[in-house]
Amino acid sequence: MSSWKIKKMSGHCGARLEGVSLSNASNSDLEEMRSALFEYGIIVMPDQNLNPEDHLKLAKFFGPIDVNRFFTPVATYPMIAEVRTSAEQSEVIGGTWHTDHSYDVAPAMCSILSARQLPPHGGDTHFASMSAAYKALSPGLKKMLSSLRAWHSDSSFSESNVGLENNPDAFRDPVLHPVIIKHPVTSEPCVYVNGDFTTHFENWSIEESSALLSYLYVFVTQPIFTTRVVWEPGMVTIWDNRLVQHYATADYSGHERLMHRITVEGVPLESV
Ligand SMILES: [Fe+2]
Repeated sequence: MSSWKIKKMSGHCGARLEGVSLSNASNSDLEEMRSALFEYGIIVMPDQNLNPEDHLKLAKFFGPIDVNRFFTPVATYPMIAEVRTSAEQSEVIGGTWHTDHSYDVAPAMCSILSARQLPPHGGDTHFASMSAAYKALSPGLKKMLSSLRAWHSDSSFSESNVGLENNPDAFRDPVLHPVIIKHPVTSEPCVYVNGDFTTHFENWSIEESSALLSYLYVFVTQPIFTTRVVWEPGMVTIWDNRLVQHYATADYSGHERLMHRITVEGVPLESV
């Protein structure tokens, strides 16, 4: 019998899991949680209040930790990234639709975000299902996109002004990924281009690519494919970066927000 109470959050992605404390979860609880992640793309677990050690232990259940080279680490926990917004900031980290780490050869499989300090209102995170978006494309566009690869680059971090590490050695060469990937666990086809890191299609110019990419960014983030996480103190949210894109809402200026994030290593992505 299941230990978790699982409630879907919207039609195409997201589930709320309650009834188990992650800091003393059994292996079968954790396996059920992982299955829910692959089924729903995002899982939200309230009232967890993880300390950094619990957070690291949870991440290691999924696999080795993929330390982000741009984020400021949490003091004394170099494998945990600090996602901090100061009261003076008007922009936030991740404030546009994107997929974490798509600029890497083997992009992170999941991100685990733990709420540490929340603003009195706002700061919600939106998610969009890339498998639902793929299903809704026409057969013609599905076929065309399935034959393409696109370049992804970390270069947009050079213009960011949101409190990331000033680390000029962190930048790497752009990488190619299929535009439609096969999910490494479920084999589900998912759209895999995002506005922060995808620059252009392979063998296409940036100008030629931009019209179709712009269309796709609007198409895949339509409200019908999304769910919205309203953060609660102590909440933990995990998302699969191959199944969903996400967007952090910058609507709490004048207030601080602090989250701890761990990303888990993924694998190189294959086409459908
Ligand atoms: Fe992100």
